[in-house]
Amino acid sequence: MLPSYYEFFNPVKILSGNKALDNLPYELDQLGVSRPIIVSDKGVVKAGLMKHVKAAFDSSGMTIGAIFDDVPPDSSSKVVNDIAVVYRENGCDAIVAVGGGSPIDTAKGVNIVISENSDNLMEFEGADRLKKPMQPFVVIPTTAGTGSEVTLAAVIKNTEKNVKMGFASHLLFPKVAILDPRMTITMPPHITAATGMDALSHAMESYTCLQKNPLSDAYAFAAIKMISENLPKAVEDGNDEDARSAMANASTMAGAAFSNSMCGMVHALGHSVGAICHIPHGMAMSIFLPIGLEYNLEKTEKYVAELLLPLGGMEEYTKMPEERRAARTIVLVRKLQQNLYDLCGLPRNLKEAGVPRNKLESIAQAAINDGTLTFNPLEMDEKDAMNVLNEAYTW
Ligand SMILES: NC(=O)c1ccc[n+]([C@@H]2O[C@H](COP(=O)([O-])OP(=O)(O)OC[C@H]3O[C@@H](n4cnc5c(N)ncnc54)[C@H](O)[C@@H]3O)[C@@H](O)[C@H]2O)c1
Ligand SMILES: [Fe+2]
Repeated sequence: MLPSYYEFFNPVKILSGNKALDNLPYELDQLGVSRPIIVSDKGVVKAGLMKHVKAAFDSSGMTIGAIFDDVPPDSSSKVVNDIAVVYRENGCDAIVAVGGGSPIDTAKGVNIVISENSDNLMEFEGADRLKKPMQPFVVIPTTAGTGSEVTLAAVIKNTEKNVKMGFASHLLFPKVAILDPRMTITMPPHITAATGMDALSHAMESYTCLQKNPLSDAYAFAAIKMISENLPKAVEDGNDEDARSAMANASTMAGAAFSNSMCGMVHALGHSVGAICHIPHGMAMSIFLPIGLEYNLEKTEKYVAELLLPLGGMEEYTKMPEERRAARTIVLVRKLQQNLYDLCGLPRNLKEAGVPRNKLESIAQAAINDGTLTFNPLEMDEKDAMNVLNEAYTW
């Protein structure tokens, strides 16, 4: 049944393919800018990826205005404010993020501070707080997971309060996203696995949470099929360019899906455990996804049953009686989780992820205050969150 009302918006131009990155200067020129700041991190530099970016500019006559390549994994409002200073000092006129969700979200934060002519990101936390037009913004994702290259959201840590702050506005969408398999091929197996499970969580939460709609459903469904067919391949053989391209596309589709339908408790718990225990976002997603699907089943059984088709394939779907399909979907998510543990040791539970048990209460408290919980099919209070966390601890 269609929702009685919904909105869907995604204005990001996508360039996908080997050497797609070489079109970056052309795209910037089309946006009317010529001195971008590149925002990235040390891991991306160490993987040798900046050479592709520089090579694209070398043959173009366009100059890079500044490079900030020291975004930390749990980027904060302080880092954002510092980069805004570099942007202004170097007379930059556009932002190019090269990296995973951390540099991308940090770059979104920089765009807020620059465009709103502020020096303090924290003034803009929340939804629809931005009013001014943004600087031209291009994203080159180097992980295949967050989908941040096509989302209206940014997640950035507030270091004083030790929580992740959410920012959401249609003004935060990048203008262009460039998916070039050369940029993800260097990802080690455990990062490939974790970020891939983030993409799967976006697609599955998008398909089952309260703001689901036909357009988000279509993106989510297609993304789940591609992830199921390609994530283990990309983890097993990082040089498999087809699997890398498929994962990059799937992650983008899952991003477009959840940017419109939003996520739920899997992300609420993931943001909280990430802020408090510093475990990577994708790792947290992998741990919480099957438990979140199970928790909401009372309201979402029909949708979870439908997901058996993209996740398990036609044969698996048709041979399974209708009333057992939802349970089977969750079993297959668990199997994928186990497969990734066998391939690269991706933790299956919070204990394996190194989360101290005495932190569970503070994680539960933070999770019930996370904005994404608003869109979860069932309510979750602190006691429910503790039950879920205890289940996630040693499962
Ligand atoms: N804005 C959104 O819509 C959204 C959605 C989900 C997650 N997030 C946020 O994204 C962040 C996580 O992003 P992430 O999972 O992409 O990880 P990340 O950006 O933190 O990167 C993880 C590690 O991988 C390295 N790396 C990245 N690309 C590489 C490559 N190609 N080769 C080798 N190493 C590489 C990085 O240097 C880093 O050490 C979290 O802060 C999370 O909250 C945002
Ligand atoms: Fe996520």
